Amino acid sequence: MKRISHFLAINRLSILPLTATISAIAIFILDTVTDLEIAAAVFYVAVVLMSVSFCQKRGVLLVGAACIVLTILSYFLTRSGSPQAGLVNCVISIAAIAATTYLVLKIDSAKVAVYEARAQLAHIARVTTFGELTASIAHEVNQPLAAVVTNGNAGLRWLTNQPANIEKTKQTLERIVREANRAGEIVGRIRNLARKAAPQNERFDFNETVLETIALTLSEIQRNHVSLNTELQDDLPSVFGDRIQLQQVVLNLIVNAIEATAAMEDGPHDLLVRTTNDNSRAVSFSVHDTGAGLESNKLNRVFDAFYTTRPDGMGMGLAISRSIVEAHGGRIWATPNEPRGAIFRFELPIREASVP
Ligand SMILES: Nc1ncnc2c1ncn2[C@@H]1O[C@H](COP(=O)(O)OP(=O)(O)OP(=O)(O)O)[C@@H](O)[C@H]1O
Ligand SMILES: [Mg+2]
Repeated sequence: MKRISHFLAINRLSILPLTATISAIAIFILDTVTDLEIAAAVFYVAVVLMSVSFCQKRGVLLVGAACIVLTILSYFLTRSGSPQAGLVNCVISIAAIAATTYLVLKIDSAKVAVYEARAQLAHIARVTTFGELTASIAHEVNQPLAAVVTNGNAGLRWLTNQPANIEKTKQTLERIVREANRAGEIVGRIRNLARKAAPQNERFDFNETVLETIALTLSEIQRNHVSLNTELQDDLPSVFGDRIQLQQVVLNLIVNAIEATAAMEDGPHDLLVRTTNDNSRAVSFSVHDTGAGLESNKLNRVFDAFYTTRPDGMGMGLAISRSIVEAHGGRIWATPNEPRGAIFRFELPIREASVP
């Protein structure tokens, strides 16, 4: 829960605690030096509202309580004005602060609930995508396993030769270890993606994540006779957010592009995956395909939930991708590709490090 709230607070500025403290002090002074008839204490609700941006639940409660204590203290310290009017104002201000604190906490809990629901939906969609990729993944794991068997047999032959060739046996054993590690890595990547983890907030190498995702789709790319090019910018600034969720977006876009390109009978079957940070404030990822493309009135509609033109599609891939990208403060959109096809692109803002 703490992590999720933290994640919601990615973009909040660190000057807010200072602003809130200065505001509280200013309101306290104003409330104390003005007449009791002036209900300056109601402005404490602004302090409570600000506190949501940098406090956990308990912190907001403490801020609310502190504002109430300051209101009461001002009432006793104020020298001028009618005590009756002052008491009424004091009660009204306390009620306003208490109600704001309560509502703000309610809204925050609702936000966390929405966040959890979205994460669950994203997880379901991720596992569903695996269903589509099963054949491809099985092939991917099978390749190193086949290499292990071939090398194992070769090693046995080198050993049973007269005299046994120890050097060649050693080489085949090294190859077996390498291939077995490769199979392990593929399974590890799938387990990572299938894991039902709480949203994470971490800094990671975006190009590496893109390459890992491509590795999961390679057999699908080959099976559909699509040729893949990658242009991953060197020295790309690291990205801050939930690595698994962003990997899911990359996977959705690549799978969609493969499907769109594979559906074309003739013409080029090219796919380009690119990362850049031309715009120095954002990291950009794009997939350029040579499928049928999108009519201009569909460029936005494709991101709607349940919009699909595929008989076995759920129409959730792009909707989930958009909600993930937007939760990271980024944006995602589609444009036509030349001479045919579509370009799906998303941008993520480059953030200052703020380790959770
Ligand atoms: N690269 C693309 N080229 C052309 N059309 C596309 C492309 N990507 C998506 N679309 C269109 O957008 C629709 C919605 O895509 P989305 O990924 O949300 O759902 P889906 O692929 O149909 O199903 P799933 O939920 O299983 O991913 C697709 O059915 C397709 O019509
Ligand atoms: Mg899809």
